[in-house]
Amino acid sequence: MIRNVKDYIRTIADFPHEGIMFRDVTTLFADARGFRMAVDQLLAPYAGARIDKVVGLEARGFILGGAVAHQLSTGFVPIRKKGKLPGAVISQAYQLEYGEAVVEVHDDALKPGERVLIVDDLLATGGTAAAGITLCERLGAKVVGCAFVIDLPDLGGRRLLEGLGHEVHALTR
Ligand code: PRP
Ligand code: ADE
Repeated sequence: MIRNVKDYIRTIADFPHEGIMFRDVTTLFADARGFRMAVDQLLAPYAGARIDKVVGLEARGFILGGAVAHQLSTGFVPIRKKGKLPGAVISQAYQLEYGEAVVEVHDDALKPGERVLIVDDLLATGGTAAAGITLCERLGAKVVGCAFVIDLPDLGGRRLLEGLGHEVHALTR
């Protein structure tokens, strides 16, 4: 039987809070065929494009983004939660369901004019990705696309990012 990316992802009810249906991609990452399929499909639209850096969003975007960067022969840049990066950073706050969070990137991680592809496992409200895009743009980079394994369209992330003029590529819902 031919399996697709969605078949490797499991949903765990009530994690991390009651009422949340958590999409668990560890089962996708753990399967050799599934992981390769996901990475190949994430980068497919960008294979002929000029991409200078892949930017991964903590934490699952590191696993996918590292593999995509390797395949595209680009460098990889992590966007991390506040306080994790050792060098000088720029910071960007964004809204969570309850309260606020901050993400950071090293202030020399991207050069003006560099073309970047943003990678993460999942797009929900789009707050994390939008903050990541803002950080890249504040360093003068151009965001060429945003690639996710999962899009949860009811939460509005795609609408938000497309409204900001960005291309969204997702493998499954
Ligand atoms: C998850 C997911 C995305 C983000 C999507 O990460 O991996 O990065 O949420 O949500 P949003 O579109 O509403 O911003 P999480 O914040 O759980 O961090 P983690 O990967 O470090 O656990
Ligand atoms: N991040 C935000 N919503 C999520 C969900 N339903 N599953 C996994 N990660 C998430």
